[in-house]
Amino acid sequence: MRLVILDDVNAVAEWAAKYVRRRILDFAPGPDKYFTLGLPTGSTPLGMYRKLIEFHRQGTISFKYVKTFNMDEYVGLPRDHPESYHSFMFNNFFKHIDINPQNAHILNGNAPNLIEECEHFEMAIKEAGGIELFIGGIGPDGHIAFNEPGSSLVSRTRVKTLAQETIIANARFFDNDLKKVPTMALTVGVGTVMDAREVLILITGAHKAFALYKAIEEGVNHMWTVSAFQMHPCFLCLCDEDATMELRVKTVKYFKGLSHVHNQLVADHRPGEELSLSKQLSTEG
Ligand code: PGA
Repeated sequence: MRLVILDDVNAVAEWAAKYVRRRILDFAPGPDKYFTLGLPTGSTPLGMYRKLIEFHRQGTISFKYVKTFNMDEYVGLPRDHPESYHSFMFNNFFKHIDINPQNAHILNGNAPNLIEECEHFEMAIKEAGGIELFIGGIGPDGHIAFNEPGSSLVSRTRVKTLAQETIIANARFFDNDLKKVPTMALTVGVGTVMDAREVLILITGAHKAFALYKAIEEGVNHMWTVSAFQMHPCFLCLCDEDATMELRVKTVKYFKGLSHVHNQLVADHRPGEELSLSKQLSTEG
């Protein structure tokens, strides 16, 4: 596990975007070799998406040979509803980049058979060769995607009833009216994310500090589903200073002492490198 501690949310956004660009460039995708990304919604990844759009406009990254799979979607919310995750991804990312819309996969929360929809999503991930890099945010209760506390740590894509805490947290997007907030969602499972070759989790803000502590300083526990990634061979966690508030001073010092190594993960790409340092480090675990 690597924990990269950065000054603030902007630094996290930039570091994350540079890391994603670096991983895609190192992979060298092409028509017979697509890079597969798992993607989150929420406020945390917004800055990273903005930076990736900027990099795309600068011409330093293309998504032409990238396939994406989103973590989750509400059940029963029309696809074109402004708060659907389809709308979120289209407005905040996909419409600004050169991805082929057919390669951007999002669960359909209006499918006539939701169980089949979840099975098809898992199958589509398999057919794409599995996910290379799964990016996620977490809730203050440590949930990853909609894997609420108590979710099985080997769960797969499925229908989930949302915890009351999540419904209340999401009310801000629905005129603060609890009756308008969807109560069910389709979500990838913890096991689905665990199968990715690499997991990158973004955690920012003091309100996530206790969850970060549970994620990395305490044991694997299904009440804090993000803690499952302690068992992942290639888990990278990016956080800001505010999110470290509940960590031990020695934990913070230890990981900050490694920052010179971590920063090489996003160093500028040198053309002609066979296996970049970034690639070697990202497989170290
Ligand atoms: P946030 O949501 O990024 O808006 O904090 C994350 C989540 O609840 O998974």
